[in-house]
Amino acid sequence: MAAAGLMTLSALAQPQLSKDNIDEVLAAMTLQEKATLLVGGARAAIVNGVTSGTAHQVPGAAGNTRPIERLGIPGTVLADGPAGLRISPTREGANQTFYCTGFPVGTLLASSWDTALVEEVTNAMGEEVHEYGVDVLLAPGMNIHRNPLCGRNFEYFSEDPLLSGKMAAAYVRGIQKNDVGTSIKHYAVNNQETNRNENDARVSERALREIYLKNFEIAVKESAPWTVMSSYNQLNGEYTQQKKDLLTTILRDEWGYKGIVMTDWGNKAGTVKSAWSGNDLMEPGNQNEIDRIVAGVQDGSLDIKDVDRNVRRMLEYIVKTPSFKNYKFSNKPDLKAHAAVARRAAGEAMVLLRNEGVLPLKGGQKMALYGVSALDFVAGGTGSGDVNKAYVVNMEEAMTGAGFTLDKTLSDYYKSFIAYDKAQQALSGAVSNWFSRRKLAEIAIPENAIQTGARNNDVAVIVIGRNAGEGADRRMVDDFELTNIERDLVRNVSTAYHAAGKKVIVVLNVGGVIETNSWKNLVDAILLPWSPGQEGANAVADVLTGKVNPSGKLPMTFPVNFMDHPSSANFPFNYVRQQNQGFGRGPQQPVKDVDYTEYEEGIYVGYRYFSTAGVQVSYPFGYGLSYTSFSYTKPSVKATADGFTATVTVTNTGSVAGKEVVELYVTAPEAGLAKPACELKAFAKTRELKPGESQTLTMTVRNYDIASFNEANSAWEAPAGVYAVHFASNVEDVRASAVYTLRKAQSWKTNNLFELNVPLEEITVTRK
Ligand code: BGC
Repeated sequence: MAAAGLMTLSALAQPQLSKDNIDEVLAAMTLQEKATLLVGGARAAIVNGVTSGTAHQVPGAAGNTRPIERLGIPGTVLADGPAGLRISPTREGANQTFYCTGFPVGTLLASSWDTALVEEVTNAMGEEVHEYGVDVLLAPGMNIHRNPLCGRNFEYFSEDPLLSGKMAAAYVRGIQKNDVGTSIKHYAVNNQETNRNENDARVSERALREIYLKNFEIAVKESAPWTVMSSYNQLNGEYTQQKKDLLTTILRDEWGYKGIVMTDWGNKAGTVKSAWSGNDLMEPGNQNEIDRIVAGVQDGSLDIKDVDRNVRRMLEYIVKTPSFKNYKFSNKPDLKAHAAVARRAAGEAMVLLRNEGVLPLKGGQKMALYGVSALDFVAGGTGSGDVNKAYVVNMEEAMTGAGFTLDKTLSDYYKSFIAYDKAQQALSGAVSNWFSRRKLAEIAIPENAIQTGARNNDVAVIVIGRNAGEGADRRMVDDFELTNIERDLVRNVSTAYHAAGKKVIVVLNVGGVIETNSWKNLVDAILLPWSPGQEGANAVADVLTGKVNPSGKLPMTFPVNFMDHPSSANFPFNYVRQQNQGFGRGPQQPVKDVDYTEYEEGIYVGYRYFSTAGVQVSYPFGYGLSYTSFSYTKPSVKATADGFTATVTVTNTGSVAGKEVVELYVTAPEAGLAKPACELKAFAKTRELKPGESQTLTMTVRNYDIASFNEANSAWEAPAGVYAVHFASNVEDVRASAVYTLRKAQSWKTNNLFELNVPLEEITVTRK
């Protein structure tokens, strides 16, 4: 059979793919070959008589596309992201290792509010992708932080679509400078991990367009990613992988996207619908998906024109890849240089939340490090976003390196506990894989030991750690909130050290937002490095000692209570994960927030809710302290042909050099649609300003950017009137304002999409 198949094939035209003969190659392909190209799968496979085998292997890469040797079409290699390249660090028979750099997670990159820095980081990351023989990095992750407890928030950027979109665009540009591709993911509305394969997100078109799609729109228009990854979940009753309005009407027709769309890693039954709707590539790929495409064309349920359209896009993608160009990768990226980039970026991006006269620390002090995470430091999250890095610097190594003398008795105690905990896990046969890797438990420190510590040391640093990852959401109790052991630790250390006239610093080594309001006033300083990558602890030391002046700001709100977020009313924050919960549930009665989730908060996500409703928060969106201070002067707004240019002068009024992020919020006139109190429309960061030095920052905003989506008219609308333009240090701290007058209302028509099958009751929020 196979031999007969090959003979038939060899009788066909055999053009060899080049970037100029895509039409010819397409015309020479059999239906079987076309279907093969639309489905990822095992390399060097024999697929229905089509011999493959031109692709090289990269162990640990998440997926690939299939080669078709007859036509000179190589396989291509796809590997995760986003905090670095994820491949296996060792290979059988190889005497070299293949480690990749563990860079800061997406949330930390976003905390920099610095697109140039992000581009520099991902340019380094992209070199690893290129030099390890990979064609596409499956990153960035860019879903909106709808709720603080989404298990993958650490991979994502922000609760705000503008910040998220700009960060994603910078990320993509940095990677793609290396002639390799990216996959912006997960398109779209993949905002929870619980039952992520089946969950139906029910969202109004306005919230979709303004919040959940806006960031993708920005990234597509400003960076042209090679690929987009459609998500696992459903959106208003259809899988996003099979949703034509999402994958074709919006993405391609409205935004002008030219690359390919691939599925997230799951084989859904509706392959024919996926192909029809504009999902070009099925990953990780499965024979039955090939069979479904072939059968679909044969029985007329799938038009060959749709198949050809997808195949053409695949060929256009393939000719850009290093695999096609036969790039001789070195397997030797410059890991040393990249470690330095990772350290500098982490230091530039982390957020100083509190500093009551303690930071920066003077070197040479005696320091007590509390918390298992000081030694078991969390560089990144778990799941596909994890990176196989050669090492992770811990806080003991970093602070010793920075010239502090550490309390050895305390460190030894923690080390023994960590060894015991690990031994216990091994003994109980606990399996640790990328979905289940457990964060080590915290251990109580007796009060008398804390008092001894307060006598023997000059300063205390408490590291609070959290790990999260793909496949499960975080819980409110003991995760968003501190555990009892952590609460006691913060209270007892603060009491003992303060009684001895000494200071207490908390380092939040977390992947997502945690509760801070109930304990923040007990301590003297709080530094938030998130999960800062393999060099992150060194970067923490750089900030604590003042070698780096912090300039990061929060890309999301820290609420007082978890339930203050309106999305918490529709989020599975207490859902106990069942076996395989991340991958689909059985056919039970639909369960709220598990089988479906109603986005009743509409556009009121994050600060859009808190600042409009006037609800108090623990730390507002955009918040972050510096070791110096800045003044904002000469605010000005000038109309342009399609919007306005805003400028403001920032002066360093303190005594050390530093950088400042200026956030530009716009308050729309009370006309037409109800709008949030203000919305972020631009931002800019100064260079490092010496004391007394000034810089004038310029930001551009188009009328389209200040428009809101009117479902009734299927149009973006910017009503005429006076728009207040605020130059702010955070959403609650406006430093200077100006106005922009839009003389004539403007609107932009879109297609009329996203009918909701089930009516959705959205909350109403009135401006306070
Ligand atoms: C994740 C993606 C990832 C893919 C490949 C999926 O489970 O959701 O983010 O890129 O696996 O590893």
